[in-house]
Amino acid sequence: MATTQASPLDQPTSHSAANSAAATCPSGNHNQAAGETAATGRSPLAEIIAAQEDIFVRRQPKSAQLAAAATGALAGGVVSSWQISRPQPVWLSHGSGSKLYDVDGNEYVDLHGGYGVSLAGHGHPAIVAAVRAQVERGTHFAQPTETALAVASELSRRFGLPLWRFGNSGTEATMDAVHLMRAITGRDLIIKVEGCYHGHHDSVQVSVCPVAPEDDRGPADHPASVPSSTGIPQAITDLTLVVGFNDLDAVRRRLAENPGRIAGMIIEPIMMNAGIILPEPGYLAGLKELLHADGALLAFDEVKTGLTAGPGGATGVTGVTPDIVCLAKAIGGGIAVAAIGGTHEVMAHVADGDYEMVGTFNGNPLAMAASRAMLTEVVTDDAYQKLEKLRLRAVDGLTREIARNNLDAQVVSVGAKGCVVFSARPVRNFRDFLDVRDSLSHAHWLYQHNGGVFLPPWGKIEQWLMSVQHDEADIDRFVDNFATFASNVRAATS
Ligand SMILES: Cc1ncc(COP(=O)(O)O)c(C=O)c1O
Repeated sequence: MATTQASPLDQPTSHSAANSAAATCPSGNHNQAAGETAATGRSPLAEIIAAQEDIFVRRQPKSAQLAAAATGALAGGVVSSWQISRPQPVWLSHGSGSKLYDVDGNEYVDLHGGYGVSLAGHGHPAIVAAVRAQVERGTHFAQPTETALAVASELSRRFGLPLWRFGNSGTEATMDAVHLMRAITGRDLIIKVEGCYHGHHDSVQVSVCPVAPEDDRGPADHPASVPSSTGIPQAITDLTLVVGFNDLDAVRRRLAENPGRIAGMIIEPIMMNAGIILPEPGYLAGLKELLHADGALLAFDEVKTGLTAGPGGATGVTGVTPDIVCLAKAIGGGIAVAAIGGTHEVMAHVADGDYEMVGTFNGNPLAMAASRAMLTEVVTDDAYQKLEKLRLRAVDGLTREIARNNLDAQVVSVGAKGCVVFSARPVRNFRDFLDVRDSLSHAHWLYQHNGGVFLPPWGKIEQWLMSVQHDEADIDRFVDNFATFASNVRAATS
């Protein structure tokens, strides 16, 4: 396979494939990637990265100052470990429409999207009006308000599930989903997919990105359960069984090995913490059938795909309705919120008090006001038509430049999200994803950044997110930067 062969781009370097992947796992250990620039006798790609990192740092002296000062007040100098990015965190001043501005005054087209949140863009008039009006009328009561009804019924319409509750983060949503599956079935085991991230609660912090030298991943058709953080008890890790994405047989085997013991399976229906990996035809429907045959449940984690993959998320795109859907990120138009939808059978366990789904800030009026505006005024049919045109413009431009420069890469996209996967062959699962060349993803990220387009850090793991406020000029800036990157990489290697 072309992507695993040694090429002039990759040699010589102290940066092993395993370190490369570890460098972009959301585990805070990405500084291992520094080996690429610290090495002597650098590869052409390492030279490109070093030159771009130099430009990057020179453009952002104030970010560097703040980052240095912050280490005295914020652990690691940031507010979430994923904000520690190489070569240095970018400190932001503000956002407006489709643009972000850093503290040094640099402007960026925002394709970072706040890790999948900013589908509305920044300062969208409908969100501003809704939030402003609600702030004046009180932001928190811990009592239900009518707005929550409007949000729930719009989510029902879009996702095909009748009953909803709210929370404040994706982690809370997937935690409730796992609890619910256990509560309903009275079983402890769950199945999750290798390489899927579902937040930072114990049951799903398993095999998120098992690439550290000490991680024993096990065989691809029977992956081991590897804790993804310190602080996760082995006893909990053992309750989470791991399978590969797009592998129905693996689920069949897990069910057969543990008859009547598996509560359910949680999955990103379109995998989005390994670039973007699409489900193969029949995979999701097959999962539902297999799980239901064993009395187990299916939960879709649509924290990233909800609203961004399409009006009804991946559920709408794939036509498979699970027992439980978890939403967060984009649904609040930039305000923290989460939602869990379920069938009547599932949510009966909440309604009758069997499972206590609680939280002081759940469905707070501020989050509900923003969510209602998002659902009814921002992500309209017209907005999705516009996003589709922009998606096609980006895909066409990137595909053209990949071909022109003979890169081993492909563009994968759905709705407002997409990414360039630096691999010659399609990626079906996490094991394939390990072969994606992260050094190219990092170099691409740097070219975009220095060229005024802010993609999410974390190289090959993340995707772009367009907003309803992006326009063709934004996409053209993105494609132009890609063209510069691609031709420089080709020149360095030919
Ligand atoms: C698919 C998925 N699920 C859950 C989460 C957790 O969401 P949060 O960070 O809001 O807790 C994330 C966060 O990136 C995610 O990508």
